[in-house]
Amino acid sequence: MAGPLPVAFLNGAFSPLETARISPLDRGFLYGDAVYEVIPVYAGRPFLLAEHLARLERSLHELSIPQPHPAAQWLAILQQLITANGGGTMYVYLQVSRGSEWGRNHAIPAGLAPTVFAFAAELPAEDSPAGTPGVRAITAPDCRWNRCDIKSTNLLGNVLAKTAAAAVGATETIFLADGELREGSSSAILVVHGDTVRAPVESRAILPSTSRRLALKLATEAGLRVHVGPVPVAALVAADEVWMCNATRALLPVVAIDDRPVGDGRPGRHWHAVRAGLDAYRRAVADLPPLQPLA
Ligand SMILES: Cc1ncc(COP(=O)(O)O)c(C=O)c1O
Repeated sequence: MAGPLPVAFLNGAFSPLETARISPLDRGFLYGDAVYEVIPVYAGRPFLLAEHLARLERSLHELSIPQPHPAAQWLAILQQLITANGGGTMYVYLQVSRGSEWGRNHAIPAGLAPTVFAFAAELPAEDSPAGTPGVRAITAPDCRWNRCDIKSTNLLGNVLAKTAAAAVGATETIFLADGELREGSSSAILVVHGDTVRAPVESRAILPSTSRRLALKLATEAGLRVHVGPVPVAALVAADEVWMCNATRALLPVVAIDDRPVGDGRPGRHWHAVRAGLDAYRRAVADLPPLQPLA
């Protein structure tokens, strides 16, 4: 389990994570009325920051939660948080809830001030591409609401699904609905047939994933075809390769689903090619000059 780092940000101030406190009447706590982002940091630099901030903006907009900070302020907050936690490699979690009220009302009262929270944590260790055995997944019916495109903290369906995977020693639960692939409990899922990478259409049923977009771009650069469209469960079952991706785990090969091997049960050659592209991309970003703190 990747541990949290000591310094957090809460409502305009940095303090030890251990002593950070919010009201129990915060709507994030009472209703899951909050949105969040998870941003990897390589060499002190938030990775795909513009994409994450754009998705945060969209999530806030869809729920009519006021945006507490313009992008430049977010960057300054993240830079300070990263520096205060020693820089280097980590991930940053940031959350904006609608705020707290005096009491509890389902209907949203006017004039609440959002609660803004961020902390940093270690990134999970990555296997070397040559040495990785890949990960196992299980499938389950998608039991979540129909606005999974919003990155909200309402994650009970995801949490229960992840726990079911962990209970059988698997890394991920892949959600299925209406005979089609949706996504993982905390990841996007891509399916490879021959030289084609298939991805479900972005819709209200799945999160627009930053790492999926990058993986598809790198797949194209590696000479693969990308097909975005419905992915029937039969295509998942018959896949040569299956990949899961998210901000903290980058791109992982899924080698077994529901105890059946994917392809030959080993990380596939196309995964190796795209993972090599991803590693080169991450190295190039890490080699850029450090971001200058904003005034
Ligand atoms: C449900 C779900 N889908 C997809 C993703 C992948 O999104 P990203 O690549 O932006 O991390 C995540 C990430 O946590 C997720 O929770």
